[in-house]
Order: sequence, then structure tokens, then C-alpha cells
Amino acid sequence: MKHLISIRDLTKEDATRIIQSALDFKNGKRSFEGILKNKTIISIFFENSTRTRTSFEMAAKRMGAEVINIDYNQSSLKKGETDYDTIINLSAMHPDAFVIRHYESGYPKFLTEFTSIPIINAGDGTNEHPSQALLDAATMYETKGTLENLKICIIGDIVNSRVAKSHMWMAKLFNWELSFYGPKTMLPKSDWLEGVKIEKNLTKAMEDKDFIMLLRIQLERKSGQNIPSLKEYNRFFGLKKSNLPDAYIMHPGPVNRNVELDSWVMDNYTKSLITKQVENGVFARMAIFEFCLL
Ligand code: CP
Repeated sequence: MKHLISIRDLTKEDATRIIQSALDFKNGKRSFEGILKNKTIISIFFENSTRTRTSFEMAAKRMGAEVINIDYNQSSLKKGETDYDTIINLSAMHPDAFVIRHYESGYPKFLTEFTSIPIINAGDGTNEHPSQALLDAATMYETKGTLENLKICIIGDIVNSRVAKSHMWMAKLFNWELSFYGPKTMLPKSDWLEGVKIEKNLTKAMEDKDFIMLLRIQLERKSGQNIPSLKEYNRFFGLKKSNLPDAYIMHPGPVNRNVELDSWVMDNYTKSLITKQVENGVFARMAIFEFCLL
């Protein structure tokens, strides 16, 4: 029984096993039916989600588990019970795993000190989003046939991105040449850049890359204050029909249409993997459940 808190905690063998299982489940090489029979998973999201929450639930149900979703508005959180007390009380009911998204960086890790029930981090603040990084890596492997030595640039609101941080650790496992690009106000200070290069302009950022990953301007984290306007952001950092690179395009979603990328690119570009990422999210989360619970 294991937690999944950070990509940093995984060995290359762990990550490879999860990614391979995800694709084996997808391609029918292995059956996932009944793997989680008699397991109960509690899903609790302290921050909004469409893709992550739904795909974890769908993955668990397809594997035969019972899933209990805690709805903030229907729970005693609404009466003032703390997040900590909520988790400790739910732990006393002995579920087999928690899937937790929290707005505070480090909150899932903090909880591991108080419960031995596996905690799967579904995104914590601006810290990490390990299941997203694993589904992205599965999509890259499916597309290129390898994860070794890939050239990848992540463009956008890097400083607030838990996806960028999880990929920074993934890059170390698979020897990626990883770079970041975005407005200076959205780039991190060099003290947490572990071997990641900062690109100087958009043309260079997109040159000779296998994958370009675009990130959402996180308006809920007040990222809009770091740029003159969304229109200006699109003008200087957005991907359009006129500046498309010869690379596969990825985005974890949700997308701000016509900000990070134009609607045309999202809907028509044949090298856009955005929908495939979402499809693979269900299989990657099945493989995560298998890794953590069995
Ligand atoms: N990519 C992602 O985490 O999307 P949601 O916020 O919809 O789960």
C-alpha cells in the first residue's frame, strides 16, 4: 500500500510500470475488470475539477471499486469542521484509499503523517499534480514509442503550475531536455529549477521539440495580475495557426480558448493531443490505483 504524493517519490521503474500498465489496460493487453473488487475509495476535492475527479471515479468504478464522493456543501466542512478532522474521521471508517485535491501546497503530504491509508494526490496548490504528469507521459510514450531523451518545452504560467513541477521530476527520470517559457512574471526563480532551461523567445522555445505543452493562465490564483491582458498574452505567448511548430501540442486543461492557444489549433490541428490526454487519464488513474492499492 503506497501513497502517490509526488513524481519525485517514484523510481524510473515505478513510473515505467504505471505508464506501461495504463497503456496495457487501454489496449486490452491486460484486463482491469474486478481488480478493485471490495475496495472503497473516498474522493474529496477541496478545489474544483472536471477531468481529474471524473477520471479517477470512472477508473475506480470500471475496476470494480465503490467510490464515495465527499461534497463540500453537503459535508460537515460547511459547519466548520476542519479539513484535517474531516480526513481523520473518514479514515476511521477504513476506506482503502483517498483521492485528494487541495488548494494548499503540501496538504496531501501533511496528511500522510496521520493516516496509513493510501493518499493519492489529485493536485495540491501550486506544488504537484502527479497523476497528470503520468497520464501525459503515457500519452507521450504512446505517441513517440519511447520516453527517453525527449525534447519538451512547457509554455505559460509556470510559477503557479503544479503540472510543470511534476514534469520537472519526470524529466529527471527519463533524461528529458526540458525547458520553460513564459512572461518573466510567470517564470520561477532559479532556486527550484532542477536542470530546466529557460527559453529566451517563443521561436526558440518551439524549435526542435518533440512536445510543446501549454499551460493555463490560472485566473483563480490571480495570475491575470502578472500580464497586461489576456489579449496581450495571446499575442506574444499564444499558439496560433500562423506560428504552429512541428511538434505535438499538449495542454492539461482546462483551456482558456484564444489565450494559451487559438480555438482553431485546439479543434483542428492534427498534432494536438489534448483530447487523447483526457482519454488516457482514465487508464493512467487505473494504473495508479493498482500501484497504490495492490
Ligand atoms: N487537468 C486537470 O487537473 O483538470 P481538472 O482541474 O478539470 O481536473
